[in-house]
Amino acid sequence: MTDNPTGAELGKKTAAEMALALIEPGMKLGLGSGSTAEWFVRLLGARVREGLEITCAATSRRTASLATECGIEILPLDDVGRLDLTVDGADEIDPALTLIKGGGGCHLVEKIVAAASADMVVIADDSKLVPQLGAFALPVEVATYGWQTTALMIEDVLRVWDVDGTEGGRRMADGTIFETDEGNYILDYHLGRITEAPALSTALNAVPGVVENGLFIGMASRAMIGSADGTAREVRPV
Ligand code: A5P
Repeated sequence: MTDNPTGAELGKKTAAEMALALIEPGMKLGLGSGSTAEWFVRLLGARVREGLEITCAATSRRTASLATECGIEILPLDDVGRLDLTVDGADEIDPALTLIKGGGGCHLVEKIVAAASADMVVIADDSKLVPQLGAFALPVEVATYGWQTTALMIEDVLRVWDVDGTEGGRRMADGTIFETDEGNYILDYHLGRITEAPALSTALNAVPGVVENGLFIGMASRAMIGSADGTAREVRPV
């Protein structure tokens, strides 16, 4: 990865730089997953190598590995407990800062870490801002046992929902079945639009076999949004 990106990558880096300004010595941090969060980890690593003392938990094995490479010690969440702040990316961000996450398959741990945090800040390039959620497929993490039956029960939920489509499928990666860090499968649902995220999230998580869905509701206090021109702005929920 170049240190001098252009286009959307510059937007991601600029958003990460804006979030970096929030970090203070002694903070307990949750480190998100995905390409934007990886910019944040790299920038944070540089500060740590200069002497910044912080305590960190990671939301994926990949992030933990990158953080370690960058000189950031990663502790298990249970050794840290409550966190001050989590900085993480998102796949879609609506005006209320309700998010779709899980494009990288990490949303279960991302949600646990964000819930353990007093604050969550989202970092993203401006392509992630949407007037309404749902163009990005909603990831639903499910237990491997009976996953096809779980999928039938999820379809029952979606059929009565106010969405444009209910098509879904098990995530694959490079021709093989994708498994999460926790050993579960991901089902991705192309809903088109999501109008009642809190109720949909509750209904999906009530299906036995569903481990966690990718809707993050009321978790992010603000979003740092970067653009391809190298500027970034802070967005608050409306
Ligand atoms: C990982 O599971 C996701 O929730 C990521 O945070 C999300 O997909 C954003 O990733 P990018 O920053 O790579 O777009």
